[in-house]
Amino acid sequence: MADKKIDSEVSEAQIAVHWKEEGYFKPSEKFKSQANVKDNSIFKRFSMENFPECYKEYADMLDWYEPYTKVLDSSNPPFFKWFTGGKLNASYNCIDRHLEKHRNKTAIHFVPEPEEEAIQHMTYQELYIKVNEFSALLRDFCGVKAGDTVTLHMPMIPEIAVAMLACARLGAIHSQVFSGFSGKACGERVADAKSKVLITADSYYRGGTLIDHKEKADIAYDEALKEGQKIEKILIFERYPGKYSAKTPLVEGRDYLVNDVIKKYYHAKVDPVALASEDSLFIMYTSGSTGKPKGAQHSIGGYLAYVTGTSKYVQDIHPEDVYWCMADIGWITGHSYIIYGPLALAASSVIYEGVPTHPDASRPWRVAEELDVNIFHTSPTAIRALRRIGPDEPTKYNYHFKHMTTVGEPIEPEVWRWYYNIVGKKEASVVDTWWQTETGGFLCSTLPGIHDMKPGSAGPGVPGIYPIIFDEEGNPLPAGSGKAGNICIQNPWPGRMLTIWGDDARFVRQYYQRYNKDPKSKDWHDWPYFAGDGAVEAADGYFRILGRIDDVINVAGHRLGTKELESAALMCQEVGEAAVVPVSDPIKGKIPHIFVSLKPGYTASTELQKKVTDTLAKEIGPFAKPGKVWIVSDMPKTRSGKIMRRILSAIANKQDVGDITTLANPQVVEEIINMP
Ligand code: PRX
Repeated sequence: MADKKIDSEVSEAQIAVHWKEEGYFKPSEKFKSQANVKDNSIFKRFSMENFPECYKEYADMLDWYEPYTKVLDSSNPPFFKWFTGGKLNASYNCIDRHLEKHRNKTAIHFVPEPEEEAIQHMTYQELYIKVNEFSALLRDFCGVKAGDTVTLHMPMIPEIAVAMLACARLGAIHSQVFSGFSGKACGERVADAKSKVLITADSYYRGGTLIDHKEKADIAYDEALKEGQKIEKILIFERYPGKYSAKTPLVEGRDYLVNDVIKKYYHAKVDPVALASEDSLFIMYTSGSTGKPKGAQHSIGGYLAYVTGTSKYVQDIHPEDVYWCMADIGWITGHSYIIYGPLALAASSVIYEGVPTHPDASRPWRVAEELDVNIFHTSPTAIRALRRIGPDEPTKYNYHFKHMTTVGEPIEPEVWRWYYNIVGKKEASVVDTWWQTETGGFLCSTLPGIHDMKPGSAGPGVPGIYPIIFDEEGNPLPAGSGKAGNICIQNPWPGRMLTIWGDDARFVRQYYQRYNKDPKSKDWHDWPYFAGDGAVEAADGYFRILGRIDDVINVAGHRLGTKELESAALMCQEVGEAAVVPVSDPIKGKIPHIFVSLKPGYTASTELQKKVTDTLAKEIGPFAKPGKVWIVSDMPKTRSGKIMRRILSAIANKQDVGDITTLANPQVVEEIINMP
């Protein structure tokens, strides 16, 4: 750990020092005139003085069955509870309450990946009917009730929204596993969440291929069983209702096609269950610094209030907007800013099934033109890819974005400018939103109608969020110091997860121990949230996020734990040791390279390299495939036997390896550098 800390400190500080300050871009008058936040009074309303009462403003955007009696219960830090005493239902807030005014308005535009397939439009009324029927099926056919967990392994088809909102209607806690995860990874998460029901789909399109997704459910079933959790029912949505499109057969008495079973529940209505604000809405697994993924457990009231408020103020969503976030709903961005936030505000949200560049780099712009999308939200990886293969394509299409978001990774100023000038046609306000699975919603961003934009910087804390940068010793680094440190949030906020599913101790250790000086303190001021990112604060109070300081690699916006990848590689019987390092990539930001040394008796070969790659895809998912597998005779190690990842990272990134004289085996470094 000591080596790693020094390593990241040096490189972050160097980057920060060498960074030139970028110029500002101003939001347009047209944008400002229609913005949800037009004036600076918001900062007064959300000032530290008004904390925590300021967050009433977000809670009051929701409908409550019972009003909350307390805004923040901070009596047991860091287990903060928001809007206690209040009762509500997320499904009601995202659907039922809109029916009076917006019943015939599109809730979801579903854009299939094959362009020859028609776009489907589901109104709020249709969503209401489908969610009611599926809730009835979950309750009466599967016995699901409030507090149960249900795992979803759903691709980007509209039924993903139906399934989530049906769970929410009953008070069941959904745990959506990104569809790109392997069956095994899904099964592990089923076992951790103790789900008896798995909701999946037969197939979906990705990159031009109709993928058999059902086969993963069989593997998930076996894996969960191995870990002591029996899945009682697997519910399968068909990509083409009534036409089962997977090769993998159904298992009788376990697998059910929703399209068949639902017939019994046509016309059913299920009253939304009134749930406590601090009850759980969902679990979202994410990678951390150990091999085991952790389930971020999110509340109903705090989370929904926070994503609704930030969708309104940061995303500038109005009910008449057509909003398209290209993230996958299997990750937190999709939960917060495709489903819950936009639907709570009665917007039309676009769900796109496939790859942004399929069949070519202008697909997103055709979709934007056809649907009149006016708010667009994506990641730097997608922006880089679209820029590389179709730098002028946006200019050929007649769409107009008023607002655009970038999320998930640092964006290079050059790429930001292309996004602003070419994709946004110099008309859109761009927000660079920094946040995490654990935080539920945005932490740092400019407000699109008020702040000037600065390429490459997320911006100040969003309303009610007070970030601070600490150095290793816990001293605050003031704005404009030019020094990088660890970004923390000083105050609690409603969107933050409740805990790590089943592991309160890990929750405290991971996010609060670092800068908490008194573990017994009952004062929230003593509990800054430690995000695990390096950052630097410019003199203007804008934060630039530098990336993870722990063992997490951010690959194309997907968060991968190096330990997870390493333990997966060790599943190959030939592999003795494995070490994963992040390597800079012009499109994906970072990609993992894996170094492996073999057990005695085995020799390096291209087959073995492939085997390691295939093992990572099988254990975790195809998105975890390494950029390169290095089979080395030995790892560079300290005298105490610790693998020097810093040196492997320097080699893979073609940088100077620095001083290696203290290593136990310095000769191996030269050997690795000279590898083909
Ligand atoms: O390192 C930060 C990076 O993504 C991490 C969180 O990943 P995840 O939990 O998967 O959530 C992704 C969607 C919010 C952070 O710790 N990150 C996120 N947004 C930004 C970012 N890095 C730089 N700039 C951002 N805007």
